Amino acid sequence: MSNPTRTNDAANDSWWRSAVIYQVYIRSFADGDGDGTGDIAGLRSRLQYLAYLGVDAIWINPWYPSPLADGGYDVSDFRDIHPAYGTLEDARKLLAEAHQLGLRVILDIVPNHVSDQHAWFQQALAAPPGSPERERFVFRDGRGEGGSLPPNDWYAAFGGSTWTRTPDGQWYLHLFAPEQPDLNWDNAGVRAEFESILRFWFDLGVDGFRIDVAHGMAKDPALPDLGLTEFSVIAGEGQEGHPHWDRDDVHDIFRSWRVIADSYPDPRVFVAEAHVRPGRLADYLRPDQLHTAFNFDFLKCALEADKLREVIDRTITDLAKVGAPATWVLSNHDEARHVTRYGRAHTGVTTPMRDQGHSTDLALGTRRARAAALLMLALPVGAYIYQGEELGLYEVEDLPESVLQDPTWERSGHTVRGRDGCRVPLPWTGDTPPFGFGTFVSAAPWLPQPDAWKSYTAEANQADRTSMLQLYRSALRLRRTNPGLRGEEFRWLDSPPGTLLFERGTGLLCAVNLSDQPIPLPDASSPLIASGPLGKDGVLPPDTTVLLHWD
Ligand code: GLC
Repeated sequence: MSNPTRTNDAANDSWWRSAVIYQVYIRSFADGDGDGTGDIAGLRSRLQYLAYLGVDAIWINPWYPSPLADGGYDVSDFRDIHPAYGTLEDARKLLAEAHQLGLRVILDIVPNHVSDQHAWFQQALAAPPGSPERERFVFRDGRGEGGSLPPNDWYAAFGGSTWTRTPDGQWYLHLFAPEQPDLNWDNAGVRAEFESILRFWFDLGVDGFRIDVAHGMAKDPALPDLGLTEFSVIAGEGQEGHPHWDRDDVHDIFRSWRVIADSYPDPRVFVAEAHVRPGRLADYLRPDQLHTAFNFDFLKCALEADKLREVIDRTITDLAKVGAPATWVLSNHDEARHVTRYGRAHTGVTTPMRDQGHSTDLALGTRRARAAALLMLALPVGAYIYQGEELGLYEVEDLPESVLQDPTWERSGHTVRGRDGCRVPLPWTGDTPPFGFGTFVSAAPWLPQPDAWKSYTAEANQADRTSMLQLYRSALRLRRTNPGLRGEEFRWLDSPPGTLLFERGTGLLCAVNLSDQPIPLPDASSPLIASGPLGKDGVLPPDTTVLLHWD
């Protein structure tokens, strides 16, 4: 491997513990061939930007062949690249170039379900009830007269029943859209196939996988009714003994995956997407299972000192029990961008995928997003950045209905717009759309960008010393150069109500003021970096974070 940082010493084997991982939503990152859709060529052309930003790795959302019924989370072939994004040869080049720059590459694996166009599902439809082809999925007879009612009362994440009827009368299970039939993880063939897929990409040189819906793969074979009368993913995730979320038997799958990851001389890593009850995440991160996980409690938390403190404490304590590193995340491709969320009266996420239509103060949201970003990057030890947050992008809430693609829009009977507003193609340069999204020429981007994004391009950010991009770059540089920030030490110090104060390593403090009054900075401290202007006489204004050197 040409990357000088990829040696096999012990410290390097655990690069992932303190990594800052940048999420590339490939369809919207950069468009190399000018067709309006992001692709591998576009990503390759912007790798220098990511290296200069100072992240350690990238996580690429699904790039496999897919009908894109759910933005690529409906995979029709796990061993190839969607033609709109490029080829396997492009993927090889990307891996080599990223590694040259010291960037690790994590892919997204979607093991809970496949596309209804996947060969396995097509074979299952063509095969009779009870056949081995159907055993790979969850087919059941219906209830009621002639089996015309779904086998149980479960709700799908995008709305409607989790069951769709096939022409021969049987029903198949899909926790998400009907185009995403769930696999049966009690089936040995399913398990073997995914182990082989992991090896395929590891052999190609990928450094790890983010595991989609890791908490949903195991189901109670009895498929009991839930007794819910309306859609409630959250209630389901919070319930003990739930028949399809966070079941204990899911952990066996990850134990066998870990053996595969560890069999490589440069061990590969797994990141869990697991929406689970407080206290349950650590089970996924036991030493013989997955490496890290997204901290959705932090993402969803209101920007209030007491609540954040509780989440931070719980995260660090819970994960320390299994020796897993804490991670922090503010946004991703499923949630309204945090500039927008923090500009609202209620800053927490209450209904994932459905959080929209509130009045927003973007200036306030941006100030708070800066404070939250500096807090996130000061916490121990891992963090995730969603593409565009470093540019200060906000949620595009006024996309025309005609362009909406999220399955939630159709499945909710056009009542819930869904997640397209955080997936709008990135603005890079220039004063008018497509803002350099196509690196040479460009058709209209697959989702339209707001005209106002001319002041949010990477170019405009670059030119402004006080921009969001400069804040992220400076904070990431400080993480690299200050051992206190890279290590795992963390200690709370007393601070006024509505504020947070903690020490990282020796002599490095982070103060966050989320109250409505300025607060004095600690004695004998000098600012290293702040999310906004500090007040005269060394006070920390509201909605501001500062990192301080402390004698
Ligand atoms: C995960 C993905 C989301 C997708 C869903 C179904 O939650 O992050 O985008 O729609 O799984 O695969």
